[in-house]
Amino acid sequence: MAPTPGRLGEAIAGGSEALARAGIASPVREARRLLALATGSSEAALGPEVSPTVTGRYRRLVEARARRVPVALLEGETGFLDFDVAVRPGVFVPRPETEELAERALVELRLLPFPPWALDLGTGTGVLAVALARARSDATVVAVDVSPRAVACARWNVRAHGLNGRVEVRRSDWFSHVPERFHLIVANPPYVARPDLPALEPEVRRYEPRRALDGGDDGLASLRTILAAAPRHLYPGGTAFVEIGHDQGPAVLRLAQGFPGWVEARVERDLAGKERFFIGRCG
Ligand SMILES: C[S@@+](CC[C@H](N)C(=O)[O-])C[C@H]1O[C@@H](n2cnc3c(N)ncnc32)[C@H](O)[C@@H]1O
Repeated sequence: MAPTPGRLGEAIAGGSEALARAGIASPVREARRLLALATGSSEAALGPEVSPTVTGRYRRLVEARARRVPVALLEGETGFLDFDVAVRPGVFVPRPETEELAERALVELRLLPFPPWALDLGTGTGVLAVALARARSDATVVAVDVSPRAVACARWNVRAHGLNGRVEVRRSDWFSHVPERFHLIVANPPYVARPDLPALEPEVRRYEPRRALDGGDDGLASLRTILAAAPRHLYPGGTAFVEIGHDQGPAVLRLAQGFPGWVEARVERDLAGKERFFIGRCG
């Protein structure tokens, strides 16, 4: 049962108890955040009393969070680098590791001595495509996803950032509707091995779309497809930045060695020290 708050302190205490019972790691902090969301402002702007309207809204938010609905879905948006994107049910919520992927790709993008063409494979909310297009006003980006919900969400975010003319969002099964070549490819594909899916935290297992996560029996199914085909869609000297699972570095490098076109391939670690990014250059 969620709390029935009246005063501010009681509201936070009741909410945090419900969240703690549901296994939320930082229940007090999250209760404060949900209360701020319920009021539409910061908690500091509240008086000591909580109005019945806010109480009802807060109770529904606490109940949803206790069912482990991700905070970003409750808020309807999430931050990425220095901007926000809308998130929608059925569309993958961007993660901090992917910000690190974006930062690497942005370094490369900024160095290109001509107007860059970039491809974002499996765009989800469109977050990587938006990051690339925001970084250079002469960049053109194609963003693809197989999921119609993701395509709709990415189009929304592209429009919200005023990038309509420079980011084209397409429905495509990886490269099926991508005939072009690019200077840069970014991808955060599904890479969880199917047997590992049941062990994911409830927020991910219950609310993220399965096809955003499921990398097939060995986790490498999408990576295999992408690494095999990417060289045909990169100009000579073009680079791919691909997020991978923390234990997939050696296997991914072996894959790249087996596919023609890659002249350089390396794996880099994320800030947590885990192998997380494949970076490959084409000849
Ligand atoms: C882990 S999510 C990444 C989303 C976004 N790029 C991000 O980093 O937040 C993987 C995305 O790949 C998409 N996807 C899965 N299979 C695909 C396929 N065969 N072709 C295109 N996109 C696919 C999913 O719909 C999902 O949006």
